[in-house]
Amino acid sequence: MREIAFDPLDPAQRADPFPVYAEARRDAPVFYAAAFDLWVVTRHEDVLAVLKDDETFSSRNALRSSPREPLPEVREVLAQGWPRMPIIVDSDPPLHGRIRRPITKAFTPRRVAELQPRIEAIARELLDGFAADGEADVVERFAWPLPLRVMGELIGVPQQDLHWLHERSRDWLSLYGATGSVEGQIAAAEGTVELQRYFVAAMEERAREPRDDLMSALLTAVAEEDDPISIVELAGVPLDLLVAGHVTVTRAIGSALVLLLRRPDALEELRTDFDLVAPAIEEILRLESPAQGLFREATRDVELGGLLLPKGARLMVHFGSANRDEAVFADADRYDPRRADVGKHVAFGKGIHFCIGAPLARLELSIALPLLLERLPNLRRAGDGPLAYDPIFFARGLSSLQLAWDV
Ligand code: HEM
Repeated sequence: MREIAFDPLDPAQRADPFPVYAEARRDAPVFYAAAFDLWVVTRHEDVLAVLKDDETFSSRNALRSSPREPLPEVREVLAQGWPRMPIIVDSDPPLHGRIRRPITKAFTPRRVAELQPRIEAIARELLDGFAADGEADVVERFAWPLPLRVMGELIGVPQQDLHWLHERSRDWLSLYGATGSVEGQIAAAEGTVELQRYFVAAMEERAREPRDDLMSALLTAVAEEDDPISIVELAGVPLDLLVAGHVTVTRAIGSALVLLLRRPDALEELRTDFDLVAPAIEEILRLESPAQGLFREATRDVELGGLLLPKGARLMVHFGSANRDEAVFADADRYDPRRADVGKHVAFGKGIHFCIGAPLARLELSIALPLLLERLPNLRRAGDGPLAYDPIFFARGLSSLQLAWDV
């Protein structure tokens, strides 16, 4: 089998992973990456086949990039919380439906639409904090806090808790990578248990005294179920939403800015033509895919891309590669907000795990990008050093982005 030099943590590949995936799509569309014990699925057609067959491809460990189980010391700490607190993204049916139904009922299009004025107000407030400076790290000052605060307001957590929640979310996410020192992993497990305790307590509080927030709406929705999940199981939902709802949008904002800065004509076009905002966002999500790929496990021997994968094989379904597949997207590496085929992108996944937050993500981006371009004229990079991409196996985005503009 043709070997593909796949290493999403290698700095050069973090900066530009796409040639490696193009090579794989051409020569080895499903390939085995021994270093990670992963079968990487790179073609659009195969990615869809996996996403649509949730019986053959289980989502258990959908976020786990490491083949290693957590260390015994880490498991000991996790046992002090709720090691079995389910997370929707790595649940399979029927549990998946028991979690997803109440979310769909509580997280309605109306609730998303009601957030619009708040997203605008938060975005303006953040910009007011640094627009006059002429230079800032826009990831730190805008791309992180905007979606974090929006998620906080949606879920119903006080603003003063957000920084702490953001740090604990990092702990929670880092456990899935199972990398770093033993001490670091133990500290991340402790943070994860604290995060679980926080949301279990918040849910119990709302069970006693409902409020006008998503956590209370989830409790109401779950009570209408025939076979409702428990309050502890439900506490995994705001936790998951908080993480899924901010780390992704942050990355989308940073990646969008870099993409536009490299194409001044596209930036200018977007600044002046509001009708282009929605299709441009889809095209940016297609090209940059903030969630580059997630994981599945084969529940039986199965053929995929001409190979026979054994039962138990771990797969990475590569949304980022599928989104640049020439078999589906003409001139796939080219940014073209007017392309007719953009609707086929899988940046939000497909099938039963399709992103619940897609409408909110689109709304946030459609407010954030025009506002940034309006308030920060003649936007440009400050300095010409390499871009700082986050060392996260399955995500694509910047950890910082120093920009300058005219004041
Ligand atoms: C640009 C931003 C976003 C991107 C690129 C993105 C991407 C994705 C992808 C690819 C999946 C599918 C996972 C899989 O198949 O295993 C997913 C699922 C999910 N997303 Fe998003 N997402 C974004 C924003 C959000 C937001 C804002 C929220 C919350 C408000 C959210 C909540 C979720 C949840 C809860 C799931 C799991 C659904 C399930 O398992 O049934 N996402 N997202």
